[in-house]
Amino acid sequence: MQPKPIKAAITAVGGYVPEDVLNNADLEKMVDTSNDWIVSRTGIHERRILKEEGIGTSFMALKAIDDLKQKVADWNPETIDLIIFATITPDMPLSATAAYVASQIGATQAFGYDLTAACSGFLYGLSTAAAFIGSGRYKKVLVIGADKMSSIVDYEDRTTCVLFGDGAGAVLMEASTNGYGWEDEILRMNGEQRMALTIKAGGSMQPITSEALKNKDNYLQQEGRTVYKMAVSGMCQVTLDILANNQLSSDDLAYVVPHQANLRIIEGLQDRLGVAEQKVLKNIQYYGNTTAATLPLVLNDYHHKFKAGDKIILTAFGGGFTWGAAYLTWAYST
Ligand code: ACO
Repeated sequence: MQPKPIKAAITAVGGYVPEDVLNNADLEKMVDTSNDWIVSRTGIHERRILKEEGIGTSFMALKAIDDLKQKVADWNPETIDLIIFATITPDMPLSATAAYVASQIGATQAFGYDLTAACSGFLYGLSTAAAFIGSGRYKKVLVIGADKMSSIVDYEDRTTCVLFGDGAGAVLMEASTNGYGWEDEILRMNGEQRMALTIKAGGSMQPITSEALKNKDNYLQQEGRTVYKMAVSGMCQVTLDILANNQLSSDDLAYVVPHQANLRIIEGLQDRLGVAEQKVLKNIQYYGNTTAATLPLVLNDYHHKFKAGDKIILTAFGGGFTWGAAYLTWAYST
């Protein structure tokens, strides 16, 4: 008899956002903007900022793992095989933040790496974890999505500084014990328009020089409208395709977990899918766009509502461009 294929499932979720709140009234004092403009164009009311100097994204990731640990009955870091750390704001360009996190939590038997796919990083990370578990090679994978966006945002640029916040989320993935878990995925990328959302300096093409700093090329820059259109069409296409591939209609879905970039992007997706508003989960009002952290933070904020067997779509779009959708059946009831 053929052995049954191994299906990966998320078995625990944790999250963290810093205490300091940057609201729209604060931004009105920093740049030429208004609460009305920000709320009507983005849906964002406030975001969290990691203010303390000298600490980076790992600080938030470790807090998210602390939260996750509380939800795991037999937590033993020495049983973790792999740590995938999705981020575009590692503590340092070298070394991998995943390695530091492993040491801090006592994951002495793990290997791991940082994964750079911007807002799709966490989704790509889940896919990789599901494949490793499905292959039987590894049993326990920690997937982290965390970004300190305040470290790469220019707080004099009103077209970007209103959008982003800091945060971290983490999930544990293991082999499913009840048949629920990772069902299907469609992941894509296309680098043709990489300059539409980028940090020009600090990589191998353009190191950081005094000229680069003068031009503010060390900060995130984007063509907002291009990104907006590509995000709606990209996430819609892969989500519709994954529904069709699995003979699902939007009525079959318990929830859609979209990347939190802009409330209007999320509403565009909702309309095109024809899915009920309450099924499309959001927390962008409170956190803004936390890049790799948006999906795990939504899972963390809403997982108490999920029941075993709930059909859930995750979808993301980000710099690169990178995008994708995954279909999973939630593995446990809280
Ligand atoms: N306050 C007031 N006015 C502003 C602000 C601001 N914060 N920002 C821009 N404006 C002005 C612009 O200067 C422009 O003025 P002009 O007409 O005199 O030139 C006007 O508002 C309209 O600007 P647009 O860029 O056309 O506004 P739009 O409706 O496209 O909204 C936004 C801009 C919110 C950035 C939108 O394009 C967007 O959300 N794009 C997606 C970007 C994104 O999410 N990036 C994150 C990373 S990728 C991802 O997560 C998917």
